[in-house]
Amino acid sequence: MSPAVLTIFLRMQQQASFHKVNEELESLTGIRQCFKGEEEWLQFRSALDSGEEVKTERDRAEFGDFQTPPALAEKITKLVSRNGSLPGILVEPTCGKGHFIIAAIRTFPCIREVHGLDIHQPYLWQTKFSLIDLYLGQPDLNKPAIYLHHGNVFDFNFETLVLNDQQPLLIIGNPPWVTNAMLGSMASSNLPEKSNFKQQDGIAAVTGKGNFDIAENITLMLLKAFHGFSGQMTLLVKNSVIRNILLEQYRLRFSIGEMRQYQINSLKEFEVKAEASLFSCKLNSEADFTCTQRSFYRPEETGLAFGWVEEKFVSNTDSYIQHRYIEGKSPLEWRQGLKHDCSLVMELEKTGQDYRNALQQTIRLEDELVFGLLKSSDLQQDLVDSVRKFTIVTQHRPGADTDFIRQYPATWDYLQQHRQLFLNRRSSIYKNKPAFSIFGIGDYSFKPYKVAISGLYKSFRFALVLPQNGKPLMLDDTCYMLGFDEPDYAVYTWVLLNSAVAKDFLASITFSDAKRTFTKEALMRIDLQALAKHLPEMQLQEEIEKLNNRYGQSITVQRWAAYCRWLATGS
Ligand SMILES: C[S@@+](CC[C@H](N)C(=O)[O-])C[C@H]1O[C@@H](n2cnc3c(N)ncnc32)[C@H](O)[C@@H]1O
Repeated sequence: MSPAVLTIFLRMQQQASFHKVNEELESLTGIRQCFKGEEEWLQFRSALDSGEEVKTERDRAEFGDFQTPPALAEKITKLVSRNGSLPGILVEPTCGKGHFIIAAIRTFPCIREVHGLDIHQPYLWQTKFSLIDLYLGQPDLNKPAIYLHHGNVFDFNFETLVLNDQQPLLIIGNPPWVTNAMLGSMASSNLPEKSNFKQQDGIAAVTGKGNFDIAENITLMLLKAFHGFSGQMTLLVKNSVIRNILLEQYRLRFSIGEMRQYQINSLKEFEVKAEASLFSCKLNSEADFTCTQRSFYRPEETGLAFGWVEEKFVSNTDSYIQHRYIEGKSPLEWRQGLKHDCSLVMELEKTGQDYRNALQQTIRLEDELVFGLLKSSDLQQDLVDSVRKFTIVTQHRPGADTDFIRQYPATWDYLQQHRQLFLNRRSSIYKNKPAFSIFGIGDYSFKPYKVAISGLYKSFRFALVLPQNGKPLMLDDTCYMLGFDEPDYAVYTWVLLNSAVAKDFLASITFSDAKRTFTKEALMRIDLQALAKHLPEMQLQEEIEKLNNRYGQSITVQRWAAYCRWLATGS
């Protein structure tokens, strides 16, 4: 509390009635019901007597608490104003210390009513103190009726806010930056009651697809309540939240348009590494399904648009329209690599005849179940035929009996020694499965030739993976692959996938700031047959020659026609 605000309260301290105090504060600041009752006022008075400060800080993690710096809040309200907003009513759904409320009051003389909500009571006090400070410094500033609500946004019924729908609305704020999974691991109750609010099934919850930011839930709640009101919504959220809102828009068809994503530098603004932007949209507009991207620092320069092109969700609408002739369903099935969740003992390095694990134990194993293992970083080259790491392949398909490993006594003993580490694996996919189970394994894993890409790297290069010492190489679960029996078929596919068209198409449907740039779903959208039809034979020839010369291979184009038939018919 500033000395000026303290002076005000010390003067009011003699007031017996909280009504009188509230009246005085309302006429000074516009805040309605600053003290909610007698008891609150008495408590406040005794805190003043004892010289106690209102404590406002707390653990930021559970509440996704990154307060918007006042200067940034001001820049944002100025941008909203330049875009033509003239709000009569302001709603700040998780107002924190009130920086957006203050910035908006300073920017928009037209605001008549303000609603701010936060779960953390000390922040509401901070907001009140800042408002008193503001009006002490600028008594002639516009003074809307200010309502500050203490509560959980998930219990708040926004529809009950008595809103005069003749007044344009501005919803502005920075909802918490935290995911339901993080809250789950903190045993936090700061979650929407129906946390499965997008009606995802159990599988999605296991695979992580059910993991969403609670800001997404809050944004959807706000849109549901207010999309029919005239006005504007402007929220600082993670880019993934904006993407998911656009995804949901196809189903929910909110009356929103002019959607924009202004990228901010969150390291500079919040000292936190995250891909975040200001999302803004016009309410009560014809439903739109695309969003344009801009830099917050150069808002006049329009960037790419992402969203829906007919029934397809894409990251670059113009480029997608140009390259969508290869959109379809891959005739070959993309597979994710092997998953074991036990890297301490399942990732091995070779030392002479022996292997060393991450526990620095040296072990001798029979060769039969040991295979070379490639990780994402190993795929950053055109052709891979050697490995740094090895793994033990305990099954040929998920769920298969692992008792057969007894016939390899050294491998069996080694696994038995570390049985507990396997039992400690947390993922539910290992529950009630044979000992030492792995996932992402099948006939395809044993195909000698592979074309593969890392899901994590942003590189659009596909790698050609050759067997080592006559044994197929395995990939870990950060990678995706197609498997082949014949080297020339693998090379033709590798040339197709590394063509400019495939790259541009993939770039137009993937998001570089997503956790995984490439997913099985995205890769399955490349119709190799359509791609093959458009590849000039000259180009195929040239690429194969380059590969042969560089890596000493002897692939020819002779079986190209047979390959195209195989893509079309599967035989
Ligand atoms: C990212 S901070 C932003 C605060 C403020 N909007 C700003 O921009 O400075 C998120 C705010 O959400 C509040 N919050 C977190 N969970 C909440 C909930 N369930 N209901 C209401 N507010 C919540 C936190 O107390 C915190 O003030």
